[in-house]
Amino acid sequence: MTIVLALPAGTEISKNISKELSLEHHIITHKLFPDGESYLRLPRNIKGQTVLLVQTTFPNQDKRLMELILAADACKEYGANEVIALIPYMAYSRQDKAFLEGEVVSIRAVLKSLRSAGIETLITVDIHKEESLRYFDGKAINVEPWQVFANVLGSDVKEDALVIAPDKGAEKRAATLAREIGVNYVVFSKYRDRITGEIRHEYKDIKLEGKHVIIVDDIISTGGTVADIAKFVSERGAKKVYAVASHGLFVRNAVRRLRESRVDEVYVLNTVPQKENVKVLDVSPAVVNVLKELI
Ligand code: R5P
Repeated sequence: MTIVLALPAGTEISKNISKELSLEHHIITHKLFPDGESYLRLPRNIKGQTVLLVQTTFPNQDKRLMELILAADACKEYGANEVIALIPYMAYSRQDKAFLEGEVVSIRAVLKSLRSAGIETLITVDIHKEESLRYFDGKAINVEPWQVFANVLGSDVKEDALVIAPDKGAEKRAATLAREIGVNYVVFSKYRDRITGEIRHEYKDIKLEGKHVIIVDDIISTGGTVADIAKFVSERGAKKVYAVASHGLFVRNAVRRLRESRVDEVYVLNTVPQKENVKVLDVSPAVVNVLKELI
């Protein structure tokens, strides 16, 4: 039998999934010690069970990861048959390579730690680079959410809409979303100064007059990447600009920045808790499809 155990940042999606799959659902008891360390207690005997731990890892990435490590270790020690972790947003995934000598490859360290804590199967949603999952020495599944976006956007955008990937890394996302909606896509180039972090785009000279444009990315953090492209396409006559991203972190007034760059609609998933006034789509159906094959 599989039971779902929600960690402090995993309750919403875990409830949706448990309901859909008729799985027993519990919330792990969670407190903070006076010095800020986490105290967790498993809510029931899990001996011989398959446990699905659910926890996203933003905000408070380090805390959320540590809680996952503590919970996974406890599940194994108390005799769980298998530990599966559903991590809707995988923190540290953007540091997947040492660009400068001595830089850490954060996602490698994080995935190794999760595995050694006892997580045998990892499910995440639209991880920054799917190839990073090779660092996890177990079964790892990346849930593609494009159908969820296409279901909503498909009826809204015009036939001659255009999907734009801000950089080569987002090409597969743009291609898949464009195919699901039945429109074309283009890929821009993005260059980042590795010391200052500053970004610069190389645009394509394309006809944008009167078009609906969908800018797609995995993450919106400060909003700089999408805002830059939104400004370019609006200046060239795009009629309506959509920003579509799996994970809306929205730091440093990102949403205001998007609006000021003439983004009309912002769509994200519920992979992280959301306070901003944007459209949030439920990724649970895509996760449920994956889980049906797994458990
Ligand atoms: C990085 O390559 C990611 O795919 C996103 O493009 C990036 O995280 C977006 O960050 P920001 O919103 O700060 O431009």
